[in-house]
Amino acid sequence: MTTQDELRPTLTTESGAPVADNQNTETAGVGGPALIQDQLLFEKLAHFNRERIPERVVHARGAGAYGTFTVTADVTAYTRAKFLSEVGKQTETFLRFSTVAGNLGAADAVRDPRGWALKFYTEEGNYDLVGNNTPVFFIKDAIKFPDFIHTQKRDPYTGSQEADNVWDFWSLSPESTHQVTWLFGDRGIPASYRHMDGFGSHTFQWENEAGEYFWVKYHFKTDQGIRNLTQDEANRLAGEDPDSHQRDLRESIERGDFPTWTVQVQIMPAADAATYRFNPFDLTKVWPHADYPPIEIGKLELNRNPDNVFAEVEQSIFSPGHFVPGIGPSPDKMLQGRLFAYPDAHRYRVGINADHLPVNRPHATEARTNGRDGHLYDGRHGRRKNYEPNSFGGPVQTGRPLWAAVPVNGLTGNHVAPVHAEDDDFVQAGNLYRLMGEDEKQRLVANLGGFIAKVSADRDDIVERAIENFRRADADYGRRLEETVRELRKQK
Ligand code: HEM
Repeated sequence: MTTQDELRPTLTTESGAPVADNQNTETAGVGGPALIQDQLLFEKLAHFNRERIPERVVHARGAGAYGTFTVTADVTAYTRAKFLSEVGKQTETFLRFSTVAGNLGAADAVRDPRGWALKFYTEEGNYDLVGNNTPVFFIKDAIKFPDFIHTQKRDPYTGSQEADNVWDFWSLSPESTHQVTWLFGDRGIPASYRHMDGFGSHTFQWENEAGEYFWVKYHFKTDQGIRNLTQDEANRLAGEDPDSHQRDLRESIERGDFPTWTVQVQIMPAADAATYRFNPFDLTKVWPHADYPPIEIGKLELNRNPDNVFAEVEQSIFSPGHFVPGIGPSPDKMLQGRLFAYPDAHRYRVGINADHLPVNRPHATEARTNGRDGHLYDGRHGRRKNYEPNSFGGPVQTGRPLWAAVPVNGLTGNHVAPVHAEDDDFVQAGNLYRLMGEDEKQRLVANLGGFIAKVSADRDDIVERAIENFRRADADYGRRLEETVRELRKQK
């Protein structure tokens, strides 16, 4: 035995007893069957069987990093959130990027939105902004989300994603035309997580110290520059290096090349909302910059890799409902649905004490609740009383709501979202198409056409309905797509 061997710690069981032999199972005689008294064997096999937790039902595949958010502009006229209260103020963050449809082991270089889940560890609690790399989304009502995702995931019979299901749903949900145009354009396959923008996507509320409130949209503009992959490049990379995005993020941070984003907000005075030309709470629409110019408010830098991917990325949880004083939800029905969906998913996927894990708990303050016990509770509250009100000096409520109350009117019911003067499902999709250069238009039509052409030969009705939505966005867009699809289906 060398001196170095003597310095090495002893391998133990989970209960800390020394392990005598980690190579050979204990058997009844040489060559005989295994013995139940080999507790190490059973402990190892049993632990291994339980290494997985349910993967996220969407956004299963992802990578994360810690970072720093720095305020660069005075926004106290708009919000009283403390982490935004002073130019130069810094807040620790954790950002998990993801793709949407693929399972946990899926390749990164695919055409799919990228998730942008950002946690600010503020002194008033964690603030989570759970957005995407796209400013809009496919649908505008949470009640459609499970159906939508079923069409993106594996078919119950074939076990694969099916073009029939995707186009059936999209063609019957014309509000998806804008996001689909975005997704099949050049930005639909980012070259890496570093080379794309992030968006809060929904409209949120900011409330200032005086109680005035504003509607806000967040934008994170990449300082690395936008870089995308063509479909052919992505197809190759997905095979050669399925972990391309994850590797790129980790390696850039390891070499000290910290990615940064310039943070901007669009701010709408509350009084504008009712008469704005688009419904400002419709997630399938942007607010054109000419209407509400983005204002720069901060810088986000990612500068530290997690040490343990399972503990810090797989078990990380983000909730659109994790707000802090001065920031709140809007009446966007998608956002409202998400306020329920995420904490529910966390309780199922990670467990009732998921908030206690190091990556999830507040870092700049402490959680003071009367919630106790449950699976894997670590006893952090010690002897403290677990109810309120109490006369033992326990924590008390503030009496001040986190965000401003908003007026509502009318009767309860399954209402269609209000339609504003210029709202329809196609105008912004058409504008996006017309903004593209000729080369990008050609790639968009080739990408979309290639996918639509995969619809089953006996379902021309789905194909026609799909093309009609793009035709309504822009006649030239529809005509080119129709020609491309007709040509491709002839060759089938
Ligand atoms: C009503 C519509 C939606 C529902 C019901 C929904 C539901 C979910 C659920 C259940 C998860 C898994 C959470 C977990 O297991 O931790 C998830 C993840 C995610 N969703 Fe949504 N989602 C919706 C819309 C959106 C939209 C519109 C965006 C972006 C604008 C978005 C972005 C994300 C991201 C980034 C993640 C991954 C979070 C992480 O990294 O842990 N989702 N969603």
